[in-house]
Amino acid sequence: MVNLFGAVGSRLAAMWLSMLSFTAASQHLAQIRRSLAELEASAQELFEAGRLADHLPALGQALEAAERHLTAETSAEGQELFFMVRVLRGTIHQQAAGLDDLAVEDLNAFTLSNPRFWDEYYAGVSGNGQFDWYGTWDTEILWPHGRTTLGSVIRPWLRREDSILMLGCGRSDMSEQMYREGFKNITNADISATLLDSLRQRLAPEMPGMSWRWMNASALPLLTRADVVLEKGTLDALKENPGLFQAAVREAYRVLTSEGLLISVTDSDLELEKLARFSCKAVSGEVLDGKTLHVFICQKLAESWFSTLKSWSRLEL
Ligand SMILES: C[S@@+](CC[C@H](N)C(=O)[O-])C[C@H]1O[C@@H](n2cnc3c(N)ncnc32)[C@H](O)[C@@H]1O
Repeated sequence: MVNLFGAVGSRLAAMWLSMLSFTAASQHLAQIRRSLAELEASAQELFEAGRLADHLPALGQALEAAERHLTAETSAEGQELFFMVRVLRGTIHQQAAGLDDLAVEDLNAFTLSNPRFWDEYYAGVSGNGQFDWYGTWDTEILWPHGRTTLGSVIRPWLRREDSILMLGCGRSDMSEQMYREGFKNITNADISATLLDSLRQRLAPEMPGMSWRWMNASALPLLTRADVVLEKGTLDALKENPGLFQAAVREAYRVLTSEGLLISVTDSDLELEKLARFSCKAVSGEVLDGKTLHVFICQKLAESWFSTLKSWSRLEL
């Protein structure tokens, strides 16, 4: 019987290497992006089949070649791709060899849970323009109840006066859109000081009331309090490092006021209620590119109420 997984890693690695000999600029980058997505999917299949380590040398070599090639790219898309390749190489090494974030860094690669990656990334991508993971406040999504925006699913859970902690705000314009709608008490937190400086400089004059603060989601400042912790993609970035991920969920629980909400927008099932005393409802929708997005609305439960309220769990909205 042909072993599908046996061939796929080296086939894709060879494809990568041959693809890098093309030159036509933007088409070339689009092609690299597609191949990168394919390579990532195949690496995932190999990982699930327990075969990733066998293909590590070929995959690592192909990704290093891609990185060398992309170093010369000056366009914003080329720079984004350079960082994506670096993270993919780091993540593949991590999964194949069980390396931690620091050991991956020794290979001159990165994982998304490594704080140093993000600072380098934000310093390295030109024109710190807006960029959203998965979608933003006004992105249309096909939910079971019809096509509406991401904001329309989150909005009913918020009060105008709520203090909202945007955890791992990145370059998303979600908090700007929310501010314009009347949610003025927003703290944008991120691990990259480079990013926060540029956001503060650009937005502080027109948005008094918003603040930008350096925070590590896994060890939030002691006195932080929020009625709502809102995150999109940040816990996904941390989840390859279970220690950091679990600490971040517990920290979100700690800083929330009584019955406060952790709202999580993610492409995976984070099972937040297993890590802290939350009761979660979930709604899932399809973004234009066909990918599935989940919004978890998780209410903080007081310890003594936990067992009695556990029944309020994961209703489909
Ligand atoms: C996947 S990006 C999502 C950015 C943004 N929320 C969005 O939806 O586009 C993850 C963000 O989390 C930040 N981040 C990573 N690790 C972090 C940590 N330990 N504490 C706080 N922020 C972190 C990164 O700098 C990055 O901006």
